[in-house]
Amino acid sequence: MTDDFFARLPKAELHLHIEGTLEPEMMVALAARNRVSIPFRSVEQVRAAYRFTDLQSFLDIYYAGADVLRTEDDFHDLALAYFDRAAADGVVHAEIFFDPQTHIHRGIPMQVVIEGLFAAIDTARERHGMTVELILSYLRHLDEEDAFATLKAAEPWLDRIIGVGLDSSEVGHPPAKFARVFAASRERGLKLCAHAGEEGPPAYIHEALDVLRVDRIDHGNRALEDPALVARLAREAMTLTVCPLSNVALRNVARIEDHPIDRMLDRGLRATVHSDDPAYFGGYIAENFRAVAQARGLSREQVVTLARNSFLSAFLSDEALAGHL
Ligand code: HPA
Ligand code: ZN
Repeated sequence: MTDDFFARLPKAELHLHIEGTLEPEMMVALAARNRVSIPFRSVEQVRAAYRFTDLQSFLDIYYAGADVLRTEDDFHDLALAYFDRAAADGVVHAEIFFDPQTHIHRGIPMQVVIEGLFAAIDTARERHGMTVELILSYLRHLDEEDAFATLKAAEPWLDRIIGVGLDSSEVGHPPAKFARVFAASRERGLKLCAHAGEEGPPAYIHEALDVLRVDRIDHGNRALEDPALVARLAREAMTLTVCPLSNVALRNVARIEDHPIDRMLDRGLRATVHSDDPAYFGGYIAENFRAVAQARGLSREQVVTLARNSFLSAFLSDEALAGHL
């Protein structure tokens, strides 16, 4: 399989944090445009800081980087640059996370964030024929009351938001902490996702299923430690949105050669491959496919299954799904 094969293979991106597509070049440019000081003098210095030891060491830099995002144009430019890259990578449909609390807590109103993203989404449709949905992700290191305030702040746009997610520091912030706001989100017709089992234990995946009643699990790698959980996930055809380069960058997997993606498929799990925070982890979705396929010696059939699973796992209408399969 050539590099071109991975880039041409049509796929849906289901696990991507738009703030995680902020490339060092854009970070430096937006810092200058908005007269924001960042602790780096050059693009090289920014890149040199991207040596992570765990999730938190990444999140500290990721939240600091997001501080350069100030205006509707900034969110538009960030997202459009991502959609252009994604189109070149064979992405025909994307369901992207955004973290409103990261911005609201810096004094950037929800409207600035959302309107900037929507404007880029409209251009992506016209320019690439790409369909894009937004997933509002709650920050789990903050309390549930703050998540409720975020849901309320998003009220005017909820008819154009497909779902909610749960991200940020996992250990010590179990899914059950957000039981009520997920129930409220479901009542508003939103789909539900949660990061679980990235660094947290298999018990967090059980909670995401039983307490939050999620439609998709983001990451989910640690399910493999619990055979009964694996059997249940397989039986329920529950999607795990797996991010190989992220797993290696955050040291959840020692080396890409050790990645469990094929073990997941062999155990009947509905795994998909995505890019998480590609500007920080060294590659967009086609590179995640290529790297893990090459390192694990995946067959063409396995790669096609991963891409097909991305459409089966997307929040698409039956009609739209049929158009992609
Ligand atoms: N895990 C948890 N929270 C995140 C991540 C991640 O990989 N990326 C951005 N927020
Ligand atoms: Zn993620």
